[in-house]
Amino acid sequence: MHPIIRNDIANLQKVVKDHLEGGQSILITGGAGFLGSWLCDSLVANAKVACYDNLSTGKPGNVSHLKGNKNFVFKSVDVASKWNTNQKFDLILHLASRPSPDDYQKHPVETLAVSTQGTRNVLELARRSDSRILFASTSEVYGDPAIIPTPETYWGNVNPIGLRSCYDEGKRVGEAMCMAYHRQYGVDTRIVRIFNTYGPRIGAKGAYGRAVPRFIVQAINGKPVTVYGDGKQTRSFCYVTDTVSAMIRAVLGKKGKGEVFNVGNPREVSILDLAKTIIRITKSKSKIVYLAEAPDDPQRRCPDISKARSVLNWSPRVGLNEGLKRTISWFRSESN
Ligand SMILES: NC(=O)c1ccc[n+]([C@@H]2O[C@H](COP(=O)([O-])OP(=O)(O)OC[C@H]3O[C@@H](n4cnc5c(N)ncnc54)[C@H](O)[C@@H]3O)[C@@H](O)[C@H]2O)c1
Repeated sequence: MHPIIRNDIANLQKVVKDHLEGGQSILITGGAGFLGSWLCDSLVANAKVACYDNLSTGKPGNVSHLKGNKNFVFKSVDVASKWNTNQKFDLILHLASRPSPDDYQKHPVETLAVSTQGTRNVLELARRSDSRILFASTSEVYGDPAIIPTPETYWGNVNPIGLRSCYDEGKRVGEAMCMAYHRQYGVDTRIVRIFNTYGPRIGAKGAYGRAVPRFIVQAINGKPVTVYGDGKQTRSFCYVTDTVSAMIRAVLGKKGKGEVFNVGNPREVSILDLAKTIIRITKSKSKIVYLAEAPDDPQRRCPDISKARSVLNWSPRVGLNEGLKRTISWFRSESN
């Protein structure tokens, strides 16, 4: 394990210890993905963790170091299909999804299926086993928002038939499904709307993939850094340990039942500034190249995190420069 990941996980395990009695059984769907694998690592010291994943976008290597750990089990499961388990879980963290634009535009049906039928299947399991469940939703439910910073009370501005709708509308149905199970069956559901998160283990595939890994890979290889549109569109980038710490607090905290929380870093950065920052930190000679605007690309993204601050006692700690340095160090070690 890269020393940066080891150190960050050790700190997250302390957050878990403060919030979890220990000995619980936890299901993490999408546990072999970027955020899921950080959650597996953070929870496995204090709980029995089952990771269900179909490896569509996740990587076995994200969790292979946990093979042989008596607290960990991996199962190849497509949560959108008919699957069954007799096992009962105290907690379920439902992350299974296809969140990368490049991938979900090639697989819109599977993307909708995992957020809709997949979420229903997981909620049924939660209902049967009386488990608390955390749903990993996204800032994309806000579409191209009219209110910045965006609070949880904003209803969204989403194109239901656009290229991104399989992901955005799928997550909106997933949220509605959680609230339906909460209201009709009393299931303890919690929702986090995650804003762009980056860090070691983030997938780097595809032209329309996520900006941080794409820029890093281009910059460290001396290739043109590709910005879509004029680069003035903004995003808020949260380092992985901050997002994972918020997810742990949201699922383990006493006050989250039936609630939804924005999770992200409220510092808004333009895509062009992000590209320049990555070129500076990597000391790359790459030039920025402007390409046609991506379809339906939201112009601004910035979370209002007042609710997570007050209810979860959480706020992000790792600034963009520091988070990028850690991520770049990991990418360099991976490419060796
Ligand atoms: N990373 C971010 O910036 C971000 C932002 C907003 C929301 N999210 C949400 O957080 C969650 C985790 O995202 P991530 O960045 O780790 O992505 P990821 O692609 O690395 O992880 C998703 C995981 O789900 C698995 N999966 C997909 N379909 C499945 C299915 N039908 N059955 C079982 N497993 C399936 C994939 O194989 C993968 O391991 C997702 O729900 C995503 O929508 C992430």
